[in-house]
Amino acid sequence: MIKILGFAGSLRKDSYNRALLLAAQKLVPDGAEIEIVDIGSFPLYNEDLEASLPAAIADFKAKLVQADAILMVTPEYNYSISGVLKNALDWASRPYGSNSFDGKPVAIMGATSGTVGTARAQYHLRQICVFLNAYVLNRPEIMVSSVADKFKDGELVDDKTKQKVREQLVALMAWTRQLHKD
Ligand SMILES: Cc1cc2nc3c(=O)[nH]c(=O)nc-3n(C[C@H](O)[C@H](O)[C@H](O)COP(=O)(O)O)c2cc1C
Repeated sequence: MIKILGFAGSLRKDSYNRALLLAAQKLVPDGAEIEIVDIGSFPLYNEDLEASLPAAIADFKAKLVQADAILMVTPEYNYSISGVLKNALDWASRPYGSNSFDGKPVAIMGATSGTVGTARAQYHLRQICVFLNAYVLNRPEIMVSSVADKFKDGELVDDKTKQKVREQLVALMAWTRQLHKD
């Protein structure tokens, strides 16, 4: 069983990105499962706290290390990822020498009310993943725009998007098997 750890970068109760993550959890094919972790309660990154990591951060880092793959669902805030998501990534990368993303297969999705489907945020996130030494799946990309048409009462209802989500999860599973071959 491939264990995927998933998280979304929005705190909003009615977040489309969390709804997309929940849809992925339901759509994941046999042979994999997605555990969702809430990154919204993490303290702001502060190097002074590294000497005694807050429990939520130690737990997050342990889950990342144990996961076979990671799924990040990002909103786009001002052409980049949200502070909430960046904060989680900064914690995951530290203390120096203890980068919990090191060598992990990663998939990225995003949803926006705008028209560019979080493309700009996703490409920033891919750049961050270079320093994290995470291996981001190239395609299919999942950039959900005009969300109002695709979600109803917090559920993804658009069949084309559902199909794309399934395809990305299948590709992530194959990518994970390929990277874990040794
Ligand atoms: C501070 C802020 C900045 C935003 N900047 C962008 C942006 O650059 N591009 C975009 O497509 N949408 C932008 N939006 C709209 C978000 O995509 C929209 O609010 C989306 O629903 C947020 O994701 P969520 O539903 O998961 O909370 C922005 C929203 C906020 C609150």
